[in-house]
Amino acid sequence: MASPNIVSSSQSSLSPPPATSIASTNGGYESGEIDWDNLGFKVTKTDYMFIAKSSLDGDFEQGQLIPFGNIELSPSAGILNYGQGLIEGSKAYRREDGGIFVFRPQDGAIRMQIGAERMCMPCPAVDQFVDAVKQTALANKRWIPPADKGTLYIRPLLMGSGAVLGVAPAPEYTFLVYACPVGNYLKGATEALSLYVEEEVHRAVCGGAGGVKSITNYAPVMKAMRNAKRKGFTDVLYLDSVNNKYIEEASSSNIFLIKGKVILTPKASGTILEGITKKSVIDIAHDLGYQVEERSIEVEELITAEEVFCTGTALGVAPVGSVTYKDKRIEYKISSEIVSQQLNTRLVGIQRGTIEDKRNWIVEVK
Ligand code: COI
Repeated sequence: MASPNIVSSSQSSLSPPPATSIASTNGGYESGEIDWDNLGFKVTKTDYMFIAKSSLDGDFEQGQLIPFGNIELSPSAGILNYGQGLIEGSKAYRREDGGIFVFRPQDGAIRMQIGAERMCMPCPAVDQFVDAVKQTALANKRWIPPADKGTLYIRPLLMGSGAVLGVAPAPEYTFLVYACPVGNYLKGATEALSLYVEEEVHRAVCGGAGGVKSITNYAPVMKAMRNAKRKGFTDVLYLDSVNNKYIEEASSSNIFLIKGKVILTPKASGTILEGITKKSVIDIAHDLGYQVEERSIEVEELITAEEVFCTGTALGVAPVGSVTYKDKRIEYKISSEIVSQQLNTRLVGIQRGTIEDKRNWIVEVK
């Protein structure tokens, strides 16, 4: 007597699987009414995202806005299998008078082009990138927080979306821009950062992709971040991978030290991201009469610094309250008088339009 054949019964109906958990969940998006006072830094399902495609050797098509939502990818997509992808970050600001402005989108466009060259990807032209950022901000205008509550974080993403099995550039690319309203990047970010100097995990190596905004720079630091957070630190400060003694950057922000009228930051030479907020802070520091040195900084120099702070698009300018290295905790004064607060006030003033933008950093969206 034939026994029940479980395999053949399931093979006999090759219809698509029923709605899976992927389709039936909300994908982790926050939805509903926005509580502008408690934005934090999380994904919100906004209205539209921008999408454009290109072949490996072609130019990006004009692209279009489509409803925000999941995208379909081949299981062999270059980004899923080999991490061929870059991210960018920009912010849109709503002014008291209702005007909408984006901060330095051209710089993100240029940085994406440099990264795309490193990762063997075609890249949208600068104007195309900037236009997509502006279109995304405008299409999601209702999600831009009131002036004193937060910003609209705009995330351009370039990925190898075509199918590829061997290690090689994907045959097709997708440029996508989405946006979410955000407040503070770190939970409880009114407090200063407490950094843990990591001696085993390195964020980047010489010749690697640490100097560009490759998606592959982020998952490898999550373990160090998780360990540091479990010990009560807010983030990790990474050292260079050759000597294990020069400071590089935190998990997603650049670092600065202040000694008198001199502001120091590690020189970016391939293993440190050229932050747009970092560049802006350097210019503002010059305006305020500080001398800025970009050079190698030994971790021991943290002991003689009067102030330390980190910068990033998502983070802004954030004071560091302590750095812990080899079980020794170095503490820094935090007050409204500290230099990083002055730099932050200037930067935010330019971004929000209350301080003159002498360098054409802000771009109106209308
Ligand atoms: C940014 O600051 O814009 C970043 O890309 C950091 C991040 C959230 C990965």
